[in-house]
Amino acid sequence: MPSALVPVPVVVEPAPAKLNLALHVTGRRDDGYHLLDSLVVFAWAGDEIQLRPGPLSLHLDGPFAPALTDEDNLCLRAARLAGGQADITLIKNLPVASGIGGGSADAAAVLRGLARMGHALPADPQRLGADVPVCLASRPARMRGIGEWVEPLADFPPLHLVLVNPGIAIPTPQVFAALAWRDNAPLPPLPDFTRADALPDWLAATRNDLQAPALTIAPVIADVLAALTAQGAWLARMSGSGATCFGIFADARAADIAAAALLRHGWWAVTTELAPPPAPL
Ligand code: C5P
Repeated sequence: MPSALVPVPVVVEPAPAKLNLALHVTGRRDDGYHLLDSLVVFAWAGDEIQLRPGPLSLHLDGPFAPALTDEDNLCLRAARLAGGQADITLIKNLPVASGIGGGSADAAAVLRGLARMGHALPADPQRLGADVPVCLASRPARMRGIGEWVEPLADFPPLHLVLVNPGIAIPTPQVFAALAWRDNAPLPPLPDFTRADALPDWLAATRNDLQAPALTIAPVIADVLAALTAQGAWLARMSGSGATCFGIFADARAADIAAAALLRHGWWAVTTELAPPPAPL
């Protein structure tokens, strides 16, 4: 039998986009990292990690691969932290440095994929980045500390989302540096989000505290938010440190129509819904 007919096993691990539906900055540690209180969800739209047996290496593919900066390095660092050997392919579908997980989601997907190949998860995934622990969970969760405290939520309603990025990469430290006020109240108590109107009412009492500083760096974010609202989003907000914004719409059709209109601005825009949690490890 020619060996070419033996299939190479491949582990495919989605790296869903991380969305901060609400993000309050509640303080700052002595080392300069900020304390956060955030409600985080994950969307179908995302990157993809493929792992094949072999020595550690990384290949890049996908529409945003040419824009990669340090995400590629973070995937390799994740594999080294887990002590794993694999031939990694990163399919970069999402804009980079854009507030939706990026390198952290990719690194977390590498860790989950290596776990499926028999490597233990590292005890300290936050060493790779503050968002890596929540991206490892990849399900609706409240995130606190600088990102190391993750409490998954039992039930969460479906969401019809549009993600929009105006084509500007914003380095996260620059946004935190522009933050004027950082001792804000924590999130209000979390209700049972499956109750009708619980989520809209709760979100109305929350913010993304990084939105104002990001706007000083990239004023076009205001145009994106206004366009989402004009297209009928019941909530339009920036995610993480930006510049990606999300709109929440009443149904999938309204989201599709809005995304088509936003693409005409020359921005990146996709419709998406919440991703299911990863298969158990
Ligand atoms: O941990 P990560 O590499 O994702 O963070 C990038 C930068 O964002 C940090 O160096 C820090 O300046 C800032 N940051 C912060 N507080 C957090 C997360 C990130 O100040 N909770």
